Amino acid sequence: AAFETLLVETRGAVGLVTLNRPKALNALNAALIEELGRALEAFEADEAVGAVVITGSEKAFAAGADIREMAQMSFADVYLADLGGAWARVVACRKPRIAAVSGYALGGGAELAQMCDIVIASTTAKFGQPEITLGIIPGFGGTQRLARAVGKAKAMDLILTGRMMDVEEAERCGLVSRVVAPERLLDEAIEAAEKIAGFSRVAVLAAKEAVDVAQEAGLTEGMRFERRTFQSLFATDDQSEGMAAFLEKRKPSFRNR
Ligand code: HXC
Repeated sequence: AAFETLLVETRGAVGLVTLNRPKALNALNAALIEELGRALEAFEADEAVGAVVITGSEKAFAAGADIREMAQMSFADVYLADLGGAWARVVACRKPRIAAVSGYALGGGAELAQMCDIVIASTTAKFGQPEITLGIIPGFGGTQRLARAVGKAKAMDLILTGRMMDVEEAERCGLVSRVVAPERLLDEAIEAAEKIAGFSRVAVLAAKEAVDVAQEAGLTEGMRFERRTFQSLFATDDQSEGMAAFLEKRKPSFRNR
C-alpha cells in the first residue's frame, strides 16, 4: 500500500483521510506526518476533490506526537530533523480541511484539529495539551493557534495544567465548530465537506484565505484584504451564475471559473 499509517479514499468530491495507527491511539510519528502531507497534496492536485475530511478512530482522533519515537531524542536530533516542521505541508494545502474528532485529541492531535478549518466533534471527544506533563511544550502550533482560537485564559489553563476538556467546554470556548452524536460524526463531516465542494471553488478558497488572514493580520489590513478579495470574485463566471440562479429561482451550476 502507498500509505502505512493512513487510510486514504475519495468519496465523490470529498477526500477522506483516516489516521490508522490503532495500537498507538494514532500517535503522530514522522511517517504519519509525512504521509498526511502527501495525501493532502494529492487531494490538492485532484480537481475532483473540493474538501477534505481528516478523522481517527472512535477511541482516538490522535493521542499526540509519538512519545516512543521522541523519548531518546536530543536537542540536536530534533533541531536537525526540524521536528514539527513537516506540518507546513499540511497547512499549506488550500482546500478546506474538516477534522472529525472522536475520543482523544491530545497534544499534537489537538494541534492537528487546530490546523483544520472546521472541527466537528463527537460527544466523546476530549481535547488537551498534556505536553507539560512530559517536560515539553506544544510544538505543532498549540501555543499559537490555540491561544488565537480560545483566548489567553483558556489556553494558559490547558497548556500549563495539561488537563483535558470535554466537548461541551471545547465548543463553548471556540475550539469546536459542532458537536454531534458519535454515530453521526463521519456522516456529518462528509456532508459538510460535500456541501463545501458543491460551491464555487474559487469562492471557497477565497473565503478560507480571507478567514486565515484574520488569524494573522490587524483589522485594517484584514478588512482591506477581504474587500479586495470580495470585489475580485465579481470577475468570476460563478458570481454571475450564482446570482442569476437566485433570481431565476433555480439551483446554480458552478464551473469553478
Ligand atoms: C506513543 C502512545 C501515545 C503517544 C498512547 N500511546 N498515546 N504512544 N505516543 N502520544 C500508546 C500507549 O503507549 C499504549 O501502547 C497504547 O497507545 C494505548 O494507550 P494507553 O495509554 O494504554 O490507553 P489508555 O489507558 O486508554 O489512555 C489513553 C490516553 C493515554 C489518556 C490517551 O494513552 C495518554 O495519556 N497518552 C499520551 C498523551 C500525551 O501525552 N500526548 C502528548 C504527546 S506530546 P502500549 O504499547 O503500551 O499498548 C505531543 C507534542 C507535540 O503531542 C509537539 C511536539 C513537537
